[in-house]
Amino acid sequence: MWRAVCDIEDVPGNGGACIKWGERQIALFRFANGTSWYAMDNRCPHDGQAVLARGILGDSGGAPKVACPLHKNSFCLKDGRHLGGHEDWRLTTYRVKVEAGQVFLDLPDKEEHRGAS
Ligand code: FES
Repeated sequence: MWRAVCDIEDVPGNGGACIKWGERQIALFRFANGTSWYAMDNRCPHDGQAVLARGILGDSGGAPKVACPLHKNSFCLKDGRHLGGHEDWRLTTYRVKVEAGQVFLDLPDKEEHRGAS
């Protein structure tokens, strides 16, 4: 279900913001072009730190990616996979849309989400 989570201005261009949803933190990213938005779990699977919203945006072979600010592991923003080959480090991604100055994420109910983590 689409949920309004913040205003466009709450997310810096070419940067990210952390959205709390139930027990989970979601990293929301906005590329500098202002039209490309992505969202994935904020917790890096390398050592469990909730830091990906502060990661460095870039691209890998034309696909958008984020590099963790701690040890630079990179993840594809389209499907959440680790770009270094750790198949068990895939992160959950979320659909994003922008309407009338607000950002929406396609999120499950909070209770449902908490149980899945
Ligand atoms: S905590 Fe993210 S790469 Fe180490």
